[in-house]
Amino acid sequence: MKHIEWKNHCLYLLDQRLLPNEVKIIACKTVEDVCEMIRTLAVRGAPAIGIAGAYGMVIAAEAWNPTLGNFRKFMEEAEKAIAATRPTAVNLFWALEQMRSVWQGNGGTYDPQSLLDKAKEIEEDDISRCKVLSAYGATLIPDHAHILTHCNAGALATGGYGTALGIIRRGHEQGKVSMVYADETRPLLQGARLTAYELMEDHIPVTLITDNMAAYLMGQGKIDLVITGADRIAANGDAANKIGTYGLAVLAQYHKIPFYITAPLSTFDLTTATGKDIIIEERNGDEVRSLGGIFTAPREVPVVNPAFDVTPHELITAIITEKGIIHGDYQKGIAEMLG
Ligand code: MRU
Repeated sequence: MKHIEWKNHCLYLLDQRLLPNEVKIIACKTVEDVCEMIRTLAVRGAPAIGIAGAYGMVIAAEAWNPTLGNFRKFMEEAEKAIAATRPTAVNLFWALEQMRSVWQGNGGTYDPQSLLDKAKEIEEDDISRCKVLSAYGATLIPDHAHILTHCNAGALATGGYGTALGIIRRGHEQGKVSMVYADETRPLLQGARLTAYELMEDHIPVTLITDNMAAYLMGQGKIDLVITGADRIAANGDAANKIGTYGLAVLAQYHKIPFYITAPLSTFDLTTATGKDIIIEERNGDEVRSLGGIFTAPREVPVVNPAFDVTPHELITAIITEKGIIHGDYQKGIAEMLG
Protein backbone atom coordinates (compact mmCIF):
# COMPACT_ATOMS: atom_id res chain seq x y z
CA MET A 1 0.00 0.00 0.00
CA LYS A 2 1.32 3.42 -0.92
CA HIS A 3 1.34 6.09 1.79
CA ILE A 4 0.95 8.90 -0.77
CA GLU A 5 -1.17 8.27 -3.84
CA TRP A 6 -2.86 10.43 -6.44
CA LYS A 7 -5.99 8.81 -7.87
CA ASN A 8 -9.16 10.13 -9.48
CA HIS A 9 -8.38 13.81 -8.82
CA CYS A 10 -7.78 13.14 -5.16
CA LEU A 11 -4.74 12.80 -2.89
CA TYR A 12 -4.83 9.70 -0.70
CA LEU A 13 -2.63 9.69 2.39
CA LEU A 14 -1.92 6.97 4.91
CA ASP A 15 -2.78 8.54 8.26
CA GLN A 16 0.55 8.31 10.09
CA ARG A 17 -1.02 9.63 13.30
CA LEU A 18 -2.77 6.29 13.78
CA LEU A 19 0.12 3.93 13.07
CA PRO A 20 0.91 1.28 14.12
CA ASN A 21 -2.52 0.58 15.65
CA GLU A 22 -4.66 1.42 12.67
CA VAL A 23 -3.99 1.51 8.95
CA LYS A 24 -6.32 4.11 7.50
CA ILE A 25 -6.21 6.02 4.24
CA ILE A 26 -7.55 9.56 4.14
CA ALA A 27 -8.78 11.26 0.97
CA CYS A 28 -7.78 14.90 0.55
CA LYS A 29 -10.10 16.73 -1.82
CA THR A 30 -9.34 20.33 -0.97
CA VAL A 31 -6.28 22.44 -0.29
CA GLU A 32 -7.49 22.84 3.29
CA ASP A 33 -7.60 19.02 3.65
CA VAL A 34 -3.95 18.84 2.57
CA CYS A 35 -2.96 21.67 4.93
CA GLU A 36 -4.69 19.95 7.83
CA MET A 37 -2.93 16.64 7.09
CA ILE A 38 0.49 18.33 7.03
CA ARG A 39 -0.19 20.45 10.11
CA THR A 40 -1.35 17.51 12.22
CA LEU A 41 1.39 15.13 10.96
CA ALA A 42 -0.94 12.70 9.20
CA VAL A 43 1.73 13.11 6.54
CA ARG A 44 5.16 14.05 7.88
CA GLY A 45 8.87 13.88 7.16
CA ALA A 46 10.55 16.58 5.08
CA PRO A 47 10.39 15.05 1.57
CA ALA A 48 6.88 13.63 2.15
CA ILE A 49 5.39 16.97 3.11
CA GLY A 50 7.01 18.48 0.02
CA ILE A 51 5.31 15.84 -2.14
CA ALA A 52 1.95 16.33 -0.37
CA GLY A 53 2.29 20.10 -0.80
CA ALA A 54 2.96 19.65 -4.53
CA TYR A 55 -0.23 17.58 -4.93
CA GLY A 56 -2.03 20.24 -2.91
CA MET A 57 -1.21 22.69 -5.71
CA VAL A 58 -2.69 20.23 -8.24
CA ILE A 59 -5.88 20.13 -6.16
CA ALA A 60 -5.93 23.94 -6.21
CA ALA A 61 -5.51 24.10 -10.00
CA GLU A 62 -8.25 21.51 -10.55
CA ALA A 63 -10.61 23.37 -8.22
CA TRP A 64 -10.22 26.65 -10.03
CA ASN A 65 -12.90 28.06 -12.33
CA PRO A 66 -13.37 31.62 -13.60
CA THR A 67 -16.00 32.43 -10.97
CA LEU A 68 -13.20 32.11 -8.38
CA GLY A 69 -11.35 35.07 -9.85
CA ASN A 70 -7.92 35.34 -11.36
CA PHE A 71 -6.11 31.97 -11.72
CA ARG A 72 -2.73 33.32 -10.68
CA LYS A 73 -4.12 34.98 -7.58
CA PHE A 74 -6.01 31.81 -6.66
CA MET A 75 -2.84 29.75 -6.95
CA GLU A 76 -0.88 32.26 -4.88
CA GLU A 77 -3.45 31.97 -2.09
CA ALA A 78 -3.29 28.16 -2.17
CA GLU A 79 0.49 28.26 -2.05
CA LYS A 80 0.42 30.65 0.89
CA ALA A 81 -1.92 28.36 2.82
CA ILE A 82 0.23 25.27 2.21
CA ALA A 83 3.46 27.12 3.01
CA ALA A 84 2.01 28.26 6.34
CA THR A 85 1.51 24.69 7.63
CA ARG A 86 5.00 23.91 8.92
CA PRO A 87 8.01 26.25 8.83
CA THR A 88 11.15 24.13 9.26
CA ALA A 89 11.42 21.51 6.50
CA VAL A 90 12.66 23.36 3.44
CA ASN A 91 11.50 20.56 1.12
CA LEU A 92 7.97 21.97 1.37
CA PHE A 93 9.08 25.39 0.10
CA TRP A 94 11.33 23.75 -2.50
CA ALA A 95 8.42 21.70 -3.86
CA LEU A 96 6.08 24.72 -3.89
CA GLU A 97 8.71 26.64 -5.84
CA GLN A 98 8.96 23.78 -8.37
CA MET A 99 5.19 23.86 -8.77
CA ARG A 100 5.18 27.67 -9.07
CA SER A 101 7.64 27.50 -11.94
CA VAL A 102 5.03 25.39 -13.77
CA TRP A 103 1.89 27.47 -13.15
CA GLN A 104 3.75 30.72 -13.69
CA GLY A 105 5.58 29.22 -16.66
CA ASN A 106 2.23 28.52 -18.33
CA GLY A 107 1.88 32.28 -18.54
CA GLY A 108 -0.34 32.04 -15.49
CA THR A 109 -2.93 30.05 -17.44
CA TYR A 110 -4.96 27.07 -16.36
CA ASP A 111 -3.20 23.75 -17.05
CA PRO A 112 -3.72 21.26 -14.21
CA GLN A 113 -2.21 18.41 -16.22
CA SER A 114 1.22 20.05 -16.34
CA LEU A 115 1.02 20.55 -12.56
CA LEU A 116 0.07 16.92 -12.04
CA ASP A 117 3.02 15.83 -14.19
CA LYS A 118 5.33 17.97 -12.06
CA ALA A 119 3.97 16.65 -8.75
CA LYS A 120 4.41 13.06 -9.98
CA GLU A 121 7.93 13.90 -11.09
CA ILE A 122 8.76 15.31 -7.63
CA GLU A 123 7.42 12.14 -6.02
CA GLU A 124 9.21 9.69 -8.33
CA ASP A 125 12.37 11.71 -8.31
CA ASP A 126 12.49 11.57 -4.52
CA ILE A 127 12.40 7.77 -4.57
CA SER A 128 15.36 7.65 -6.97
CA ARG A 129 17.31 10.24 -4.97
CA CYS A 130 16.78 8.20 -1.80
CA LYS A 131 17.94 5.00 -3.49
CA VAL A 132 21.12 6.64 -4.76
CA LEU A 133 21.99 8.27 -1.43
CA SER A 134 21.29 4.97 0.30
CA ALA A 135 23.89 3.24 -1.86
CA TYR A 136 26.46 5.92 -0.93
CA GLY A 137 25.52 5.77 2.74
CA ALA A 138 25.72 1.99 2.93
CA THR A 139 29.43 2.19 2.12
CA LEU A 140 29.90 3.82 5.55
CA ILE A 141 28.28 0.93 7.42
CA PRO A 142 30.80 -1.52 8.86
CA ASP A 143 30.13 -5.27 9.17
CA HIS A 144 27.95 -6.38 12.12
CA ALA A 145 26.84 -2.77 12.63
CA HIS A 146 24.73 -1.60 15.55
CA ILE A 147 23.08 1.61 14.35
CA LEU A 148 21.14 4.21 16.30
CA THR A 149 18.52 6.34 14.53
CA HIS A 150 16.09 9.01 15.69
CA CYS A 151 12.56 9.91 14.59
CA ASN A 152 11.50 8.39 11.26
CA ALA A 153 13.45 9.08 8.10
CA GLY A 154 12.05 6.09 6.28
CA ALA A 155 9.73 5.27 3.41
CA LEU A 156 6.89 6.96 5.29
CA ALA A 157 8.82 10.23 5.52
CA THR A 158 9.73 10.34 1.82
CA GLY A 159 8.42 9.31 -1.57
CA GLY A 160 8.87 5.68 -0.56
CA TYR A 161 12.39 4.44 0.26
CA GLY A 162 13.76 6.62 2.99
CA THR A 163 16.98 8.47 3.75
CA ALA A 164 18.42 7.23 7.07
CA LEU A 165 16.26 4.09 6.85
CA GLY A 166 17.08 3.79 3.15
CA ILE A 167 20.76 3.55 4.05
CA ILE A 168 19.97 1.03 6.77
CA ARG A 169 17.77 -0.92 4.33
CA ARG A 170 20.60 -1.05 1.80
CA GLY A 171 23.16 -1.98 4.49
CA HIS A 172 20.84 -4.76 5.63
CA GLU A 173 20.56 -6.12 2.08
CA GLN A 174 24.35 -6.25 2.08
CA GLY A 175 24.28 -8.29 5.31
CA LYS A 176 26.00 -5.63 7.41
CA VAL A 177 23.29 -4.58 9.88
CA SER A 178 23.16 -6.55 13.13
CA MET A 179 20.80 -4.24 15.00
CA VAL A 180 19.03 -0.91 14.62
CA TYR A 181 18.23 0.93 17.83
CA ALA A 182 15.24 3.21 17.31
CA ASP A 183 14.78 6.13 19.71
CA GLU A 184 11.11 6.38 20.56
CA THR A 185 11.28 10.14 19.83
CA ARG A 186 9.08 12.03 22.26
CA PRO A 187 6.78 13.85 22.14
CA LEU A 188 5.05 12.31 19.11
CA LEU A 189 6.83 8.93 19.06
CA GLN A 190 7.74 8.77 15.38
CA GLY A 191 10.53 6.33 16.30
CA ALA A 192 8.31 3.98 18.30
CA ARG A 193 5.24 4.20 16.09
CA LEU A 194 6.79 4.51 12.62
CA THR A 195 10.46 3.45 12.55
CA ALA A 196 9.88 0.32 14.64
CA TYR A 197 6.84 -0.50 12.46
CA GLU A 198 8.63 0.11 9.17
CA LEU A 199 11.73 -1.91 10.09
CA MET A 200 9.68 -4.81 11.44
CA GLU A 201 7.60 -4.88 8.24
CA ASP A 202 10.88 -5.20 6.32
CA HIS A 203 12.29 -7.83 8.71
CA ILE A 204 15.23 -5.62 9.70
CA PRO A 205 16.32 -6.26 13.33
CA VAL A 206 15.17 -3.38 15.50
CA THR A 207 15.22 -2.65 19.22
CA LEU A 208 13.17 0.21 20.61
CA ILE A 209 14.65 2.45 23.30
CA THR A 210 13.42 5.55 25.07
CA ASP A 211 15.29 8.72 24.17
CA ASN A 212 17.13 8.85 27.49
CA MET A 213 18.76 5.42 26.95
CA ALA A 214 21.07 6.45 24.11
CA ALA A 215 23.96 7.56 26.35
CA TYR A 216 23.78 4.33 28.33
CA LEU A 217 24.00 2.19 25.18
CA MET A 218 26.85 4.26 23.77
CA GLY A 219 28.71 3.98 27.07
CA GLN A 220 28.28 0.20 26.90
CA GLY A 221 29.88 0.15 23.44
CA LYS A 222 26.60 -1.01 21.87
CA ILE A 223 26.38 1.65 19.14
CA ASP A 224 28.77 1.79 16.16
CA LEU A 225 27.23 4.73 14.35
CA VAL A 226 24.29 7.14 14.39
CA ILE A 227 22.33 8.07 11.24
CA THR A 228 19.46 10.54 11.07
CA GLY A 229 17.64 12.50 8.40
CA ALA A 230 17.30 16.29 8.23
CA ASP A 231 14.62 18.90 7.65
CA ARG A 232 16.87 21.72 6.51
CA ILE A 233 20.62 21.92 6.04
CA ALA A 234 22.14 25.40 6.05
CA ALA A 235 24.92 26.52 3.69
CA ASN A 236 27.55 25.80 6.38
CA GLY A 237 26.31 22.26 7.07
CA ASP A 238 24.36 22.95 10.28
CA ALA A 239 21.40 20.58 10.14
CA ALA A 240 17.91 20.86 11.60
CA ASN A 241 16.22 17.58 12.43
CA LYS A 242 13.76 16.20 14.98
CA ILE A 243 14.23 17.49 18.51
CA GLY A 244 16.80 15.32 20.26
CA THR A 245 19.11 14.91 17.29
CA TYR A 246 21.53 17.56 18.60
CA GLY A 247 21.83 15.75 21.91
CA LEU A 248 22.67 12.50 20.11
CA ALA A 249 25.41 14.26 18.14
CA VAL A 250 26.97 15.59 21.36
CA LEU A 251 26.82 12.11 22.89
CA ALA A 252 28.29 10.54 19.76
CA GLN A 253 31.24 12.92 19.83
CA TYR A 254 31.94 12.17 23.48
CA HIS A 255 31.88 8.45 22.77
CA LYS A 256 33.87 8.80 19.51
CA ILE A 257 31.06 7.32 17.43
CA PRO A 258 30.47 8.55 13.85
CA PHE A 259 27.38 10.73 13.52
CA TYR A 260 25.90 10.93 10.01
CA ILE A 261 23.19 13.14 8.58
CA THR A 262 21.56 12.17 5.31
CA ALA A 263 19.22 14.09 3.04
CA PRO A 264 18.45 14.67 -0.64
CA LEU A 265 19.58 18.00 -2.13
CA SER A 266 16.00 19.30 -1.81
CA THR A 267 16.72 19.56 1.95
CA PHE A 268 19.65 21.96 1.50
CA ASP A 269 19.03 25.67 1.73
CA LEU A 270 21.82 27.91 0.48
CA THR A 271 19.79 31.00 1.40
CA THR A 272 20.09 29.97 5.06
CA ALA A 273 23.66 30.80 6.07
CA THR A 274 23.85 28.93 9.37
CA GLY A 275 21.63 26.90 11.67
CA LYS A 276 20.85 30.04 13.68
CA ASP A 277 18.77 31.27 10.74
CA ILE A 278 16.56 28.17 10.64
CA ILE A 279 13.04 28.74 11.96
CA ILE A 280 12.20 26.06 14.49
CA GLU A 281 8.56 25.05 14.64
CA GLU A 282 7.03 25.37 18.11
CA ARG A 283 4.09 23.01 18.56
CA ASN A 284 1.20 22.80 21.00
CA GLY A 285 2.33 22.19 24.58
CA ASP A 286 -0.27 19.44 25.07
CA GLU A 287 1.95 17.18 22.95
CA VAL A 288 4.41 17.30 25.86
CA ARG A 289 1.80 17.23 28.63
CA SER A 290 0.21 14.09 27.25
CA LEU A 291 0.96 10.73 25.73
CA GLY A 292 -1.44 8.90 23.44
CA GLY A 293 -4.22 11.33 24.34
CA ILE A 294 -3.80 10.88 28.11
CA PHE A 295 -2.49 13.76 30.19
CA THR A 296 0.66 12.76 32.07
CA ALA A 297 1.36 16.21 33.55
CA PRO A 298 -0.69 18.93 35.21
CA ARG A 299 -2.74 20.52 32.44
CA GLU A 300 -1.55 24.02 33.32
CA VAL A 301 2.17 23.28 33.62
CA PRO A 302 4.25 25.51 31.32
CA VAL A 303 6.16 23.57 28.66
CA VAL A 304 8.30 24.26 25.62
CA ASN A 305 7.75 22.14 22.55
CA PRO A 306 10.24 22.83 19.77
CA ALA A 307 9.71 20.20 17.05
CA PHE A 308 13.32 20.36 15.84
CA ASP A 309 16.82 21.29 16.92
CA VAL A 310 19.95 22.18 15.01
CA THR A 311 23.09 20.07 15.06
CA PRO A 312 26.16 22.25 14.47
CA HIS A 313 28.21 21.00 11.53
CA GLU A 314 31.27 20.46 13.76
CA LEU A 315 29.47 17.50 15.32
CA ILE A 316 28.58 15.87 11.99
CA THR A 317 31.04 13.25 10.70
CA ALA A 318 29.61 13.37 7.16
CA ILE A 319 26.50 14.39 5.22
CA ILE A 320 25.26 11.80 2.74
CA THR A 321 23.37 12.97 -0.36
CA GLU A 322 22.40 11.53 -3.74
CA LYS A 323 25.44 13.25 -5.22
CA GLY A 324 27.91 11.71 -2.80
CA ILE A 325 29.27 12.13 0.71
CA ILE A 326 30.40 15.51 2.06
CA HIS A 327 32.84 15.84 4.94
CA GLY A 328 35.47 18.29 6.08
CA ASP A 329 34.71 21.73 4.68
CA TYR A 330 30.91 21.63 4.50
CA GLN A 331 30.56 25.20 3.24
CA LYS A 332 32.69 24.35 0.21
CA GLY A 333 31.37 20.82 -0.28
CA ILE A 334 27.73 21.94 -0.17
CA ALA A 335 28.33 24.91 -2.51
CA GLU A 336 30.08 22.62 -5.01
CA MET A 337 27.35 19.99 -4.84
CA LEU A 338 24.52 22.44 -5.32
CA GLY A 339 26.40 24.63 -7.78
O1 MRU B 1 7.92 16.25 12.70
P1 MRU B 1 8.28 15.25 11.65
O2 MRU B 1 7.82 13.86 11.96
O3 MRU B 1 7.86 15.71 10.27
O4 MRU B 1 9.87 15.24 11.66
C1 MRU B 1 10.55 14.42 10.75
C2 MRU B 1 12.02 14.41 10.90
O5 MRU B 1 12.58 15.10 11.73
C3 MRU B 1 12.79 13.58 9.92
O6 MRU B 1 13.96 13.09 10.51
C4 MRU B 1 13.17 14.46 8.72
O7 MRU B 1 12.05 15.10 8.20
C5 MRU B 1 13.83 13.68 7.64
S1 MRU B 1 12.70 12.61 6.78
C6 MRU B 1 13.55 11.86 5.53
